Amino acid sequence: MRILITGGNGQLGRECRAVLKPDHRVTAVDIEDLDITDPAGVDAYIKHHRPEVIVNCAAFTQVDDCETNRESARQVNVNGPDNLALCAARYKARLVHISTDYVFDGKKPVPNPYKEADRPNPLSHYGRTKFEGEQAVLKYAGSFIILRTAWLYGFYGKNFLKTILARALAGNRQTLKIVNDQYGSPTWAHRLALQIRHLIQNRAEGIYHASSEGYCTWYELAKRFLEKMEISCDLRPCRTDEYPTRAVRPKNSILENSRLTAEGLNRMKPWPDDLDRFVRKYKDRLIQECKTKTEPLKRRP
Ligand SMILES: NC(=O)c1ccc[n+]([C@@H]2O[C@H](COP(=O)([O-])OP(=O)(O)OC[C@H]3O[C@@H](n4cnc5c(N)ncnc54)[C@H](OP(=O)(O)O)[C@@H]3O)[C@@H](O)[C@H]2O)c1
Repeated sequence: MRILITGGNGQLGRECRAVLKPDHRVTAVDIEDLDITDPAGVDAYIKHHRPEVIVNCAAFTQVDDCETNRESARQVNVNGPDNLALCAARYKARLVHISTDYVFDGKKPVPNPYKEADRPNPLSHYGRTKFEGEQAVLKYAGSFIILRTAWLYGFYGKNFLKTILARALAGNRQTLKIVNDQYGSPTWAHRLALQIRHLIQNRAEGIYHASSEGYCTWYELAKRFLEKMEISCDLRPCRTDEYPTRAVRPKNSILENSRLTAEGLNRMKPWPDDLDRFVRKYKDRLIQECKTKTEPLKRRP
């Protein structure tokens, strides 16, 4: 199949490229080649390249920055999918669009998970724009998959685990306060890419949840990660109100992969197993990358 990946240099985009390339004709582009907010550019690109499937990994993903850069967030997370969905319908491509657990308000008591049929009610501007992006995809009634995922991490790009690692390696023996009353399902971007490939190849259609099986808090995630990395650090669990952020986050954003399971398509794994695999595969490279980034710049003579 001819597959176009937008946001191809991001955390998930890079994993999708690697996973889809062996079996398909994959083109991965990012904002410098194809800005999804440009309707004429998107139309011209898709008209010319005629992909059979478009995987939209492009998004404005910095949740707190969305509160202050509201218009940019709306452009990328709403107008972008709108442009892609219109052209997908126009040129008969299937659109795989990635959405988020943050479309839900988290008011369900833990550990009750959110299923595909639950009503979104986002708390943040990021969540609202992502929900409106879903609506834009639904509007054109072409062939589509909307995949809601959660708490993504991976080797490429920025994520929570890399932030924790950088702080732990900073070596100033500070105590790290980590939120212990928000619950979700940490999801390895590589696993999600494998799930996306499986859905494309099985001609799935509609809205699906796809996050790791099981759930934890940010504190529990950081603790297990640093233990597996064999890095000692003084972690302290805290409440959300002790760690204020610009965007309000749901207390419970646990997703259940109900449709994947019901249709025999679920390829997601328990989060601790995937986290351990991730660390086994990338431990040395993560530390190396982190040290390179934090090394002080050498002075010019
Ligand atoms: N990260 C998470 O924890 C998480 C959780 C749930 C759902 N999701 C969803 O999963 C998807 C992938 O997330 P991710 O973590 O891979 O995000 P990411 O690493 O931030 O990647 C997004 C990519 O899109 C690019 N981009 C931004 N604006 C663009 C534009 N106008 N046109 C084309 N490309 C543009 C970004 O480029 P720049 O870097 O130059 O801006 C970046 O390369 C997103 O839909 C996100 O909402 C993420």
